[in-house]
Amino acid sequence: MHGTIKPVDEARERAYSMPLADMDPGHPELFQNFTFAPYFERLRKEDPVHYCKDSMFGPYWSVTKYNDIMEVETNHAVFSSAAALGGITIRDVSPDLRRESFIAMDQPRHGPQRKTVAPMFTPTHLDDLATNIRKRSASCLDNLPKNEVFDWVDTVSIELTTQMLAVLFDFPWEDRRKLTRWSDVATTLPGPQGLVATDEDRMAELMECAGYFGKLWKERINQPPKSDLLSMMAHNDATRDMDPNNFLGNLILLIVGGNDTTRNTLSGSIKALSENPAEYKKLRENPALIDSFVPEVIRWQTPLAHMRRTALEDYELGGKQIKKGDKVVMWYVS
Ligand code: HEM
Repeated sequence: MHGTIKPVDEARERAYSMPLADMDPGHPELFQNFTFAPYFERLRKEDPVHYCKDSMFGPYWSVTKYNDIMEVETNHAVFSSAAALGGITIRDVSPDLRRESFIAMDQPRHGPQRKTVAPMFTPTHLDDLATNIRKRSASCLDNLPKNEVFDWVDTVSIELTTQMLAVLFDFPWEDRRKLTRWSDVATTLPGPQGLVATDEDRMAELMECAGYFGKLWKERINQPPKSDLLSMMAHNDATRDMDPNNFLGNLILLIVGGNDTTRNTLSGSIKALSENPAEYKKLRENPALIDSFVPEVIRWQTPLAHMRRTALEDYELGGKQIKKGDKVVMWYVS
C-alpha cells in the first residue's frame, strides 16, 4: 500500500524533474502553497544565477546565493532600483501607476531623501521609543483572551505593528487600521482573489491615503518640527516640495516597510517557537538569548522574499552574462 504523498514531496519531485530552463521560482503559487524551498535548493546547487526566459512577470534572472546577492545589492552603479525602470519588485508596475520613492530611486536623489527620515531610526532614538514599545506590547499580551482560540495575526502581529506605525507617523490613533489597509492594498496582486479587483481600484484607495496624509502634512508643516516621520519630511529641504507621486511613493514605502516585515516576523516567530518547543524552552530559561533569536528568526522566516534591480549595463555574475536592461531578482528567501 502506498503512503500519502505530501505536497512538499510532490514539490521536490517536480522541482528536480523539470528542465532547469523551465524553472520559474517567482511563480506566486509556490509561495501560496509554501512549496518554493526545493526549487531554490536545486537552483543553489545547479544554477545559482538562473535565467527564466518566460514568466507572468516577463523574463528575469534569479540570484539565489549569499555572495552573488551581496554583489548585486552593493553595486549601485550597475544595478538600479529606479521606479522608471520597473523598481524593486519582480512585477513591473504599469507606467501610469509608477510612483517614485527613495527605495526605488538611485543616487544622487536617493541619499538626501533617505537622510530626512534617518533620525527616526538611530539607536538612540529607538532606545527612547523602547519604553513606549514595551508598554504597548505588554498591554497587548496581558489582554489576550485566555482559554479560547484567537487569531494571533490580527490580535497581536497586526495590532502591534499598526500601533507602532501610528506612533512613528503620529497618526490619529482611532484611524490606525487605515494604515494596515493601505499597506495591504499597496502590495496585493489585484484580481478576483486579491484585496482589490483592479489596478484602478487600488489607485482609488491609495488616493484616499494621499488625501488623508495631505491634510496631516498641512498641519505639520505649519507647526514647529517634531520627531514624527511626516514632520521630518515636511520640514526638510529634500522632501518639502515632493511632487504628489513622490509624496505618495514615500508614504507607501514607509507604511509597507514598517508593516508587512514586522507583522510577518511576529507571526513567524510564534510559529517557529510552537514548532520547536526545545528552542522555546531555552528562550524562556535564558531571556538573554532574545538578542540572537530576533535576527535569526528574521533570517529563518524571511519576511521579505526578494528585491529586484535592473541592469544598467552588461555584467558578468557567477559566470552568466547579464545584459543591459535585464531584470535581476535577489532571492533573500533562498
Ligand atoms: C523584520 C523587519 C524588516 C525587514 C526584514 C526589512 C527589510 C528591508 C530590506 C531588505 C530593505 C532593502 C531593500 C532594497 O535593497 O531594495 C529595506 C529597506 C527599507 N526598509 Fe525595511 N525591513 C524591516 C523593517 C522595517 C521597518 C520597521 C521600517 C520602517 C517603518 C522599514 C523601512 C524601510 C525603508 C524606509 C527602506 C528603504 C531604505 C532605503 O532606500 O535606503 N523597514 N528593508
